[in-house]
Amino acid sequence: MNLSRRALLSASALLVARPRLAFSDATHAAVKAPTAAEPLVLCWNENPYGPSPLARAALNGTVSHACRYPEQEIELLQNALVAKEGLSADHIVTGSGSGELLSALGTLVGRERGEIVAAEPTYLELPGYALRVGATVKYVPVDALLSHDLSAMRAAVSDKTRAVYLCNPNNPTGTAIGAAAIRSFVESLPDNVTTIVDEAYMEFADDPAVKSVTDLIGSGKRVVVLRTFSKIHGMAGVRCGYAMGQPDMIASMTDIRMASPSIFAMRAALASLGDHAFLTDTRRRVIASRQRITGELDRLGMPYAKAQGNFVFFDTGMPIGAFQERMLARHIRVGRRFPPFDNWCRITVGTEPQVDTFLSALRSIAAESRGRERKIG
Ligand SMILES: Cc1ncc(COP(=O)(O)O)c(C=O)c1O
Repeated sequence: MNLSRRALLSASALLVARPRLAFSDATHAAVKAPTAAEPLVLCWNENPYGPSPLARAALNGTVSHACRYPEQEIELLQNALVAKEGLSADHIVTGSGSGELLSALGTLVGRERGEIVAAEPTYLELPGYALRVGATVKYVPVDALLSHDLSAMRAAVSDKTRAVYLCNPNNPTGTAIGAAAIRSFVESLPDNVTTIVDEAYMEFADDPAVKSVTDLIGSGKRVVVLRTFSKIHGMAGVRCGYAMGQPDMIASMTDIRMASPSIFAMRAALASLGDHAFLTDTRRRVIASRQRITGELDRLGMPYAKAQGNFVFFDTGMPIGAFQERMLARHIRVGRRFPPFDNWCRITVGTEPQVDTFLSALRSIAAESRGRERKIG
């Protein structure tokens, strides 16, 4: 679809000059020591560097248009996604966050009283919603490396199964499946089973085998891939995501989705897609900080799963409730309990100073525990 002249003009108007101190906000704010009133929030897998400078400018520039319904923005964003993903417009639907589209998928399975196969633990938005609207969910424990156990998941597929959910990289474990393994898995499934691949954290993966499987859609497979602007783009509060799949599936999701992105979300998403400097820098910084965290866990002898998202899942050596309390006493909020990994914690990679604060808290909690062990021993 060609962009109209009006659309092109307004797209370029959105791409205003880059503010100079690109990352100063997030970095500066983090230098302040956390307090009880303003704790350091490392529990939601947000990206504190965002939104990108171009997205911030687009958000500010949209205030005076907030009385308008989004119109040309829908086409502009759709066209930008079509160009990015190499698919046609009928393969893509946007939503108010990818969570909205996961819920739509849950509804599609639920209204047929179908079954979803998902890993345990995994991100619960789709299975949880599907369960509430009439689906059944079969959970398959992750393997010894805390990764999706694809052969056990394949074995769990029954006549009732309508979808298999693969969260890649997986939230909360952080592990990721290689693209080749997903391809063979999809090939092995009956034609009436859709593979839903949630790639919310894909941009943070650095294992060369781990890649998007969007190309399977172009080759006609029953695969839905979800992406979000909440993670690498750092716009969790703005609410924008999209799903890609076969046109019949996308049409069904469009019919039942309840919220499309706002004019702010669409303009900011469009600007952020073009902010390559921000995206590259964020990825580099998150991966470097993730390595600092895993390096420290190695030094402290704390096991962790191979981390491919903007978070690390590690064994605290104590019930997670006790660990949360100790972190909260230092004004740091960490991830909740993810059964059956009752001693494990999911920690979000923050800015560099936030990671410093977290690591010094971790060292002090580990030293306290060692002191207690010595007293008991
Ligand atoms: C795996 C996964 N998918 C989807 C989402 C939801 O993202 P959104 O903010 O786009 O609704 C999250 C949010 O944490 C997530 O972890």
